[in-house]
Amino acid sequence: MRTAVYPGSFDPITLGHVDVLERAAGVFDRVVVAVLVNPRKSPADEVASRVATIRAAVAEELPSLAERIAVEAFDGLTVEACRAVGARHVVRGLRAVSDFEAELQMAHLNRRLAPEIDTVFFMTALEHGYLSSSLVREIARFGGDVSEMVPRAVAAELGAPEGQGRRL
Ligand code: PNS
Repeated sequence: MRTAVYPGSFDPITLGHVDVLERAAGVFDRVVVAVLVNPRKSPADEVASRVATIRAAVAEELPSLAERIAVEAFDGLTVEACRAVGARHVVRGLRAVSDFEAELQMAHLNRRLAPEIDTVFFMTALEHGYLSSSLVREIARFGGDVSEMVPRAVAAELGAPEGQGRRL
C-alpha cells in the first residue's frame, strides 16, 4: 500500500488544501494529513482542535475518499511523521512560482534527512491558487466572507468578526 504524508500547519485548512488532498488521494492508496505542531506558532491544544476540524472538512468535502484519508497531529520532523506511518512520500501543493524556492529547500532537506522519502508536488487548482491560510484568517477576523475559500466546518469556526470597516 502506497502511503503519503501531507504535512502542514493547516491554520486553517482551505479549499486549496482540500484540492491538493483530493488529487493526492487519486495517486496514493492512503494519505495521512499530518498537522505539525510548531511550538513557535501554536500550542498543542490548538492543534488538537485543528485535527477535529480537518476531519470534519474531509467528511464533508471528500466523502468518497474519507476512508483512505487519516488526519493526525505530530510534533517534530515531517520525515519522522512519515516513518511513523510507513510513508515514502511527502505531498505538498504549489500555488505559484513564489512557493517554489521554499518548497525546493524543504524537499532537499527532507531528502537529506531521510533519503528514502521523496516529495511529490501537486499544482493547486487555478481557482484556489490565490488562497493562503493567513489571509483567510485575516479576512474572517475583519468580517469578510470566506465561505468560498474554506470548507464549511472551518467557516463555522472562524469566529465572530471584529470590525466592519468602521472609521476609528
Ligand atoms: O502549512 P505550512 O506552514 O507551509 O507547513 C510547513 C511544514 C509544517 C510542512 C514545515 O514547517 C515542516 O515540515 N515542519 C515540521 C518540522 C520539520 O520537519 N522541519 C524541517 C523541514 S525541512
